Amino acid sequence: MNTIAIEPSIAARARALEASKIREVAEAGMKLGGVLPLWFGEGAWPTDARIVDAAVASLRAGNHMYQPNNGARALREEICRYSNGLFGCSLGPERVTVTPSGMQGLMLTAQILTSPGDRVVAVSPVWPNIVGAFSAMGADIVSVPLSVQAGKWALDMEALLAALTPQTHVFIVNSPNNPTGWAMSADDQKIVLEHCRKHGIWVVSDDVYARLYRHGDVAPSFLSIAEPEDRLLSVNSFSKCWSMTGWRLGWIVAPKALEEKLGQLTEFNTSCTPGFVQDAGIVALRDCEDEVGTLSAKIKTGYQIASDRLGRFSRVNFIEPDGAFYVFFKVEGIADSLKAAFDIMHSTKVGLAPGVAFGETGEGYLRLCYAQPQEVLEQAFDRLEAVLSD
Ligand SMILES: Cc1ncc(COP(=O)(O)O)c(C=O)c1O
Repeated sequence: MNTIAIEPSIAARARALEASKIREVAEAGMKLGGVLPLWFGEGAWPTDARIVDAAVASLRAGNHMYQPNNGARALREEICRYSNGLFGCSLGPERVTVTPSGMQGLMLTAQILTSPGDRVVAVSPVWPNIVGAFSAMGADIVSVPLSVQAGKWALDMEALLAALTPQTHVFIVNSPNNPTGWAMSADDQKIVLEHCRKHGIWVVSDDVYARLYRHGDVAPSFLSIAEPEDRLLSVNSFSKCWSMTGWRLGWIVAPKALEEKLGQLTEFNTSCTPGFVQDAGIVALRDCEDEVGTLSAKIKTGYQIASDRLGRFSRVNFIEPDGAFYVFFKVEGIADSLKAAFDIMHSTKVGLAPGVAFGETGEGYLRLCYAQPQEVLEQAFDRLEAVLSD
């Protein structure tokens, strides 16, 4: 049977899904070959050997079996120790569900919270997979756009609070944000949390880039101000800070009341996260804090190069990020960012993500991931100069 025959018979929600425009460019670029890959959100560096060794040792020791739905107790405890130290909260393991990736954490979050037609408000531009998970569950997404004020991304709090109506079911925020690098201030988080408490709105906080913050060791997080029973789900991942994108390991912090349901939903998604991957996660959190520091230093160097070079390109409006490892910049004369990303890739062999992939607010922008070695970045900017500077 061909796809034309199958299409009408699959779920309307699946039919409505849109292909990722980041992938569109990247898949074409991978076929082309020789493209400097600044399109995805991942560092160029391999996982620390101690983490790899822990996974191998776990496999050798026979950790080959199904695991508890909510994750192995030892990792859940380790995540509590780590989070309590970092965010000053007092989580117990019953509040943590281990997930095979941050993305799966987002999908479980969408599954547990969303009924078709629910109003879900998201700060945008935003990584399309976050709102995509909620759309796939039938949510009506309402975007509250960031804007550029005095060379920095800013959120209009009045507009946000007006959008968070009593009919709103979920508020999604990713801070530091992919793609802009914008981070929500602790003061704004307090105001939003109070408002959401008043109207019974769930806060979904994507804290994946919390450690990659340019103004301190850790970005402000709702976890630092929320009560245990607040309607807050925080999603996190090992992918970025421990260079573990391919391992697929993350976690959700949720109120204790959701523990059982998150476990049941996990059963029908993946049943569990592989045990040897969880053992590697324990070592990452317990023994590899220095690895986060090393990565942060590399990212700092990457940012210096990116800001210095891009900032001097005459057609680029450089906007200073607060965190993460991206620059999201506007280019004079670019109206169709998807076409521009393709054109730039063909003419310079540098792979960038098109701004429109992150919502309409992102049209006219391009995203560049600077978590790359110095020589790759220098080469990329040498090539980009021809198309981004007059
Ligand atoms: C904001 C944000 N959240 C979550 C993720 C998911 O990461 P992973 O599924 O690799 O854990 C990403 C990955 O790019 C991201 O940018």
